[in-house]
Amino acid sequence: MSIQNRKKDHVSLCVSGNVNYEKTTGFEQYDFLHNALPEIALDDIDVSAELLGRRFSFPLFISSMTGGYSGAVAVNEIIAEFCESRNLPFGVGSQRAMLERPEERASFRIAREKAPTAFIAANIGGCQLPQLTGDDIQCMLDVIEANALIIHLNPLQELMQPEGDRDFSHVLENIERLCRQLEVPVMVKETGAGISGLVAAKLYKAGAAVVDVAGAGGTSWSRVENARASDPNSLFDDWGIPTVVCLEQISALKVPGRQLIASGGIKNSLDIAKALCLGADFAAAAQPVIKAVIQDGREGLEAWFGQLRRDFTFALCLLGVSSAEGLNKSYLIKRQ
Ligand SMILES: Cc1cc2nc3c(=O)[nH]c(=O)nc-3n(C[C@H](O)[C@H](O)[C@H](O)COP(=O)(O)O)c2cc1C
Repeated sequence: MSIQNRKKDHVSLCVSGNVNYEKTTGFEQYDFLHNALPEIALDDIDVSAELLGRRFSFPLFISSMTGGYSGAVAVNEIIAEFCESRNLPFGVGSQRAMLERPEERASFRIAREKAPTAFIAANIGGCQLPQLTGDDIQCMLDVIEANALIIHLNPLQELMQPEGDRDFSHVLENIERLCRQLEVPVMVKETGAGISGLVAAKLYKAGAAVVDVAGAGGTSWSRVENARASDPNSLFDDWGIPTVVCLEQISALKVPGRQLIASGGIKNSLDIAKALCLGADFAAAAQPVIKAVIQDGREGLEAWFGQLRRDFTFALCLLGVSSAEGLNKSYLIKRQ
């Protein structure tokens, strides 16, 4: 199957299929320490947040999703216009397709055309790195005038794809080389199976500026690939580290100057607040965004984000915290 058709299938399955993990993110293990005396005005609460030296209106990164087929133009256009107007960072989907078929570049370029000042991250798979030249990487960055490069690690997804990659060697050394050579920061993410503390420590040591955990509890890429497969193997559908376990392990590393994004099953503002309490600098979401865009376009995305922002402000008020950056573990109670 061509990359173009695969990308199309991914979007439609994530919008209408049952592709979520059975296991949960783990956020439900925590309650907030409600503050009956917040002594704060709702209007004074600051929900902005910093990532890679830039201030954004809200601690939400729109995760890398699509590009590389004609239908992706409309999706990337909506996401780009939304992020430009809301001052939110976002990533385009894997740019492998446009390296193989230069005519697909337009579906990525549209992101920069519609978001001239936004923070936009390029995207490529870790296991593709050994085959790519310096010119390939530069082409991916140039097409969207990227502010960062995201490298995604997705061994589970690749193994579940009959046509997927089977060689996962030499990825770390390539990440290390790019961190040294590129002028833009390198961010590394999973795609839903999570990044452990041990792996994050290696990535930070290699020079990754940001690790995005993309943990289990949201989209299961084993389920997505099984929904497309002629001979599905459901044994790995629930394989992955819950998002909260990733956050607990990685925030314990306390690596100075490196940042952490919480993603994988982020479904509402309370998940975002809990993630920030657990040490994340930012949250990110994919599936809720693509659902809103495909079902209701820009309006759907605005409605989803409006509610997220309002509820997040309420949560901060109910904790008596005046800024998103003031959240920490003391505001959480772990259920017994
Ligand atoms: C339709 C769709 C396409 C995706 N394509 C990519 C991709 O090209 N590159 C990537 O790094 N992650 C990709 N992802 C993974 C997401 O960025 C994210 O890490 C993962 O879905 C977990 O987040 P969620 O539970 O909020 O969906 C994709 C996700 C969706 C829903």
